[in-house]
Amino acid sequence: MMTRFGVHDLTVQFGGLRALDQVSFAVEPATFVGLIGPNGAGKTTFMDAVTGFTPATGTVTFEGHDLSRVPAHRRIRTGIGRTFQTLELFEDLTVRENLTAAAEKSTWWSPLVDLVRPRPSRAAAEAVEDALSRLRIEDLADVLPPDLSLGQRKFVTVARALALRPRLLLLDEPAAGLGTSEALAFAARLRELVEEGLTIIMIDHDMGMVLKVCDEIHVLDFGRLIASGDPEAIRQDPRVIQAYLGVDDDPAAAEAAEAAEAAVGPENGPVR
Ligand SMILES: Nc1ncnc2c1ncn2[C@@H]1O[C@H](COP(=O)(O)OP(=O)(O)O)[C@@H](O)[C@H]1O
Ligand SMILES: [Mg+2]
Repeated sequence: MMTRFGVHDLTVQFGGLRALDQVSFAVEPATFVGLIGPNGAGKTTFMDAVTGFTPATGTVTFEGHDLSRVPAHRRIRTGIGRTFQTLELFEDLTVRENLTAAAEKSTWWSPLVDLVRPRPSRAAAEAVEDALSRLRIEDLADVLPPDLSLGQRKFVTVARALALRPRLLLLDEPAAGLGTSEALAFAARLRELVEEGLTIIMIDHDMGMVLKVCDEIHVLDFGRLIASGDPEAIRQDPRVIQAYLGVDDDPAAAEAAEAAEAAVGPENGPVR
């Protein structure tokens, strides 16, 4: 099977700091991938490097193409979508209009088209309705962003990315700020998108949530990939426990590790 997405030796240098250090891994299609790591580990930098927002060395391949030298605005057109850590929407446009603004492929003549035909193309309109229904937020279509709850805003942000019909979606802490059960329900919905064929790489700091919903997990620490594997392998990896909870001879950390293990233990089962 052709690997749908891969990075090889991906490295980002900010002055004297290596924010990303020779990161390599591959992702098969329709996989839910978790990217975790402590604050400052390089997770957002990884996403910026993949999407071309920050200069990087190494290679990024997608569906057999080398994207390493493709500029950011064209990577989006190749089927890679993303959300940002902040949830900015056009606050004076409805949810549907926000999605439409994202879905319209902009061209040099689109300002002229807007003058004579201020309506979305049929393809864009279809992509928007499809994104709303896949996230089951059709009832929010005419709502203005200030009237959305935080949870609803999260769904809208993902729907907006889906309106560009990506085949790979990169999500930067999409569930941040949600309560545990709301975050799990949100992630379960993302899981359904993966079952339908989408590949998702999700950054999150909630290890319990990532271990529950993801097929495979990559762990960054100080820009380096320190562990990769399925939830079971990650849960037991001593480097992961140490990176998250500090040295293991600290009794408070040991207690926290135990609590973390209890919270994500196999008895809680994956959300599938
Ligand atoms: N534009 C930048 N210039 C300089 N340093 C940066 C820049 N962006 C991020 N960093 C640094 O790179 C490291 C990784 O940051 P980031 O990728 O945002 O971490 P994470 O998303 O895992 O919390 C941090 O030490 C951060 O301070
Ligand atoms: Mg970040």
